[in-house]
Amino acid sequence: MALIGTDIQRASRELDQGNLVGIPTETVYGLAGNALDSQVVAKIFLVKNRPAFDPLIVHIPSFQYLNTIVSEVPDMANLLASHFWPGPLTLVLPRKDIVPDLITSGLSTVAVRVPNHPLTLKLLNQLDYPLASPSANPFGYVSPTTAEHVQQQLGGDLTYILDGGPCKIGIESTIIGFESQQPVMYRPGGISLEAIEAQVGEVSYKPQDSGVVAPGMLDSHYAPQKKLILGNISGLLKEYGQKKVGILSLKDRFQQIEDRYQIQLSPTGDLTEAARNLFGSLRKLDAMPITYIFAELVPNHGLGLAINDRLQRAAS
Ligand code: TXA
Ligand code: MG
Repeated sequence: MALIGTDIQRASRELDQGNLVGIPTETVYGLAGNALDSQVVAKIFLVKNRPAFDPLIVHIPSFQYLNTIVSEVPDMANLLASHFWPGPLTLVLPRKDIVPDLITSGLSTVAVRVPNHPLTLKLLNQLDYPLASPSANPFGYVSPTTAEHVQQQLGGDLTYILDGGPCKIGIESTIIGFESQQPVMYRPGGISLEAIEAQVGEVSYKPQDSGVVAPGMLDSHYAPQKKLILGNISGLLKEYGQKKVGILSLKDRFQQIEDRYQIQLSPTGDLTEAARNLFGSLRKLDAMPITYIFAELVPNHGLGLAINDRLQRAAS
């Protein structure tokens, strides 16, 4: 098992030695290693059981650092970075040769962000290299939002987990790239599409599994072990019956089901709170003695877009 603590020096020593470390971010915990060392990057793919065609995000300490790994920063990228970094925004930009091919799965672009967590920012600022870091879950499973989640699944492969408490956003970063000078969203995430469009105007949405840009976002992802069925929960209870069922709703309770088998993402229907609770709730339901998880989509605005994206992938 990995050691869990808040010792940045320790984390930095482990990384310097080519080891993998669990790191906190405001979105989800990452499985981090030296982004400039191909061998370390290969280890990340191995530990995560991640297919080599699914590229990784590079985490950097500051906007100024961007030029080290990226060859060109369009004006709109500049605008977005200065507005949202540090924060849950990943930009896909033309890469420099210093970035190992393995990170980008051979693409000519690299995904990069400045995470907004005090411990990880401090860590990044004292390292001589950026950190490659996918979410710290086995490929296909729900992302971790606490250090314990990381320990439970990947503890054996990490030497240290930097404990930064529960993630404040709870859902992965929004990924934005540029095609023919126009902004494109590849993954909805912790910054709403509305907030991004307020900066750069209309952004088109190209779900990552729909094309060749990032074949990595496979349909089935963020999936608990239990079978998750999406729909109108009352309807599902009628159709499938009520035995061995757990419920994940935005705010409603269902009298037919025992309280302990129900989770409300946000009693007030607040989508930011719902996003923060989503992955932890899926893990809790996964541990219950139930066969099915019945879940419903949330309103499709603000962080609701990202929540619905993850629910749909969890269900497929
Ligand atoms: O919030 C986050 O982004 C978290 C934390 C740890 O920073 N990281 C995360 O990483 O979600 P991961 O590996 O689980 O997801 C990275 C996504 C993948 O879906 C991948 O396809 C996409 O980023 N990606 C990476 N490089 C890309 C590129 N050059 N073009 C398009 N998409 C890319
Ligand atoms: Mg992931």
